[in-house]
Amino acid sequence: MAKLGYPFTLGVASGEPLPDGVILWTRLAPEPLHLDPRRPGGMPKRQVAVRWQVAEDQGLTRVVKEGTAYAEHAWAHSVHVKVEGLRPATEYFYRFSVADPLFEPATSPVGRTKTAPAPDSQAPVRFAVASCQRYEHGHFTAYRHLAVERPDVVFHLGDYIYEAGRPATTPQPGRYVRPLEPPARECTTLHDYRNRYARYRTDPDLRAAHAAAPWIVTWDDHEVEDNYRGTRPADGSDQAAFLRRRTAAYRAYYEHQPLRVRPVGDGLRMYRWRAYGTVADFLVLDARQYRDGADMLGPEQEAWLLGKLRAPRARWKVLVQPVFFAQRAFPGPGGPSFSRDAWDAYRDQRSRIMAAAGRDLVVLSGDVHNNWACELSTAFGDPAARPVGVEFVSTAITSLPPSTDNHAILAANPHIRYFEGHRGYLTGTATPTAFEVAYRVVDFVDRPGAPVSTAAVFGVEDGRLVRVDTMP
Ligand SMILES: [Fe+2]
Repeated sequence: MAKLGYPFTLGVASGEPLPDGVILWTRLAPEPLHLDPRRPGGMPKRQVAVRWQVAEDQGLTRVVKEGTAYAEHAWAHSVHVKVEGLRPATEYFYRFSVADPLFEPATSPVGRTKTAPAPDSQAPVRFAVASCQRYEHGHFTAYRHLAVERPDVVFHLGDYIYEAGRPATTPQPGRYVRPLEPPARECTTLHDYRNRYARYRTDPDLRAAHAAAPWIVTWDDHEVEDNYRGTRPADGSDQAAFLRRRTAAYRAYYEHQPLRVRPVGDGLRMYRWRAYGTVADFLVLDARQYRDGADMLGPEQEAWLLGKLRAPRARWKVLVQPVFFAQRAFPGPGGPSFSRDAWDAYRDQRSRIMAAAGRDLVVLSGDVHNNWACELSTAFGDPAARPVGVEFVSTAITSLPPSTDNHAILAANPHIRYFEGHRGYLTGTATPTAFEVAYRVVDFVDRPGAPVSTAAVFGVEDGRLVRVDTMP
């Protein structure tokens, strides 16, 4: 029988770092865009044993943990290895291999990961933030640069894929620069979503970023459907059909991310606390799955979050979440308008979160495809209000920006202190005494090869933004 091709086409990933362990991920996919839903990734309907190794060195000569995991057809031959017994705040390297008659013997690329610090550690944490990576909008050059920086951890704030098919609008030069096909229809089935993730992971820069550091991910809307809320599709179509679609999308998401927990029924538990010693409590939010009416988080997640904010263990309380948190008024001739998809549509819940945080709140956001920085207060627009913290809004990796009048938005919202309009990502450092964020930008994404530069660096002092880079 002819052998299948190289199975590690989608690369490797790690995530969910704890002081003593991480999750290692890969997926066997010799034909990542295989069109037959019964053979996802071109794999037959049987289990395959996958060897894994974790070592102290990049050459994997000093192996400290190893074992066998089983890639199952029902999970698209994805593998999630829960590695335990590692040392805190330590860099490790890992790889997978297969020795199965289906394949020629094959070994994956080597990934680098790092465990979280011990609970009492005061060690600084160096992180990166990414979001919004519409494949057909551009090249993932920003990820190539992010990978070189080898942060302790990467946060992804959602819109990891876009579910849309071929652009409905007429393609314009510089706007749709990479083909999605095959297939290029809007994702609705499990197979559609699986192949969309596989299409994205065929990009070597995205694979490099996953192989460079552990990721902690959350989602926004496009992992399922634009602007959906809870179990409701944005277009008001049949709710039962939408829930089937959402369940398929959540399953495919799990199959392609280094997550600790599997989907259960039609849900996937995403909100969680990830601690970096006594420096930062990272509180990862799910702003989609439980949305209902005036409630973005749902009662259980809100109660969990308020409890964490009222009894912090660390110096900085950092919300890792997808959508714009501060008030953002869009000035217009008939008075200001507000997004109905972001926190401005959920003001009461936002106020309860800020009240519980009290001070030293840091919010990381994405979604809007531009860089912004904001000061947070329980009374936006009142200069006498005591600031409770800051928000760093990260631009898109590739997704094109909206055609908003950003200077008018700055003028109408004095608490929004910074705007910048390139593609890119954030890097940050949190210590017991400082929190700093750099806006890393690339000049273009319509072709490969853009260099990266730092557009601005901000620090946080007494809940206020302080620009710490030198102005030209
Ligand atoms: Fe987006």
